[in-house]
Amino acid sequence: FRIAVLASGRGSNLRALLDAIAGGRVHAGVVGVFSDRPGCRALDLARAAGLPAVAVSPRGFASRAAHDEALFSEVAAVQPDLIVCAGYLRIIGEDAVRRFMPRMINIHPSLLPHHPGLDTHARVLAAGDREHGASVHVVIPALDAGPVLAQVRIAVRPGDDPASLAARLLPREHALLSACVGLIAEGRLQPDTECPRLDGVPL
Ligand code: GRF
Repeated sequence: FRIAVLASGRGSNLRALLDAIAGGRVHAGVVGVFSDRPGCRALDLARAAGLPAVAVSPRGFASRAAHDEALFSEVAAVQPDLIVCAGYLRIIGEDAVRRFMPRMINIHPSLLPHHPGLDTHARVLAAGDREHGASVHVVIPALDAGPVLAQVRIAVRPGDDPASLAARLLPREHALLSACVGLIAEGRLQPDTECPRLDGVPL
């Protein structure tokens, strides 16, 4: 089961996924890591793991669609069964999304449909939410709006700030993403299903 990972940043979700694969918890292989940010740590991590690491900067492209086309033709070349957006911070245009839908998933740090977009930890606190969490969802053209495959929840504690919330959520995100990818690879979770059966699956 071939996985392509898209990332823009530090790559901790990528690392967690690679660890889960190495540990035999996810029966799949990462066949390439793709980024819009040439210097990002996720790409360093991929290279250190001996994986194809491809950066396509949006600089010099006339449009979002032109950049998407360049990046996603590289992604398509590795023939992925699943594309995992793990901290890919650029909006993906509709044509590229539709090309792979529903075989592209994203990890988002909120309990969707609450708080799509950026700065979720600060917005959870500003809203006075008592719960926070992360969601894995199918990528559709509307931002962070695709069918949710699974979520994890954490309590918001008195005295939390955005950094403490983010730090407490991150390991749960890692477990959630790896669990979802593992289930999809085994055919137990269908990315096109809105109500997956996750009974008994420890996330
Ligand atoms: C994660 O919080 C993820 O949910 C969000 O961006 C962050 C990426 O972190 N989309 P990392 O690059 O995987 O460490």
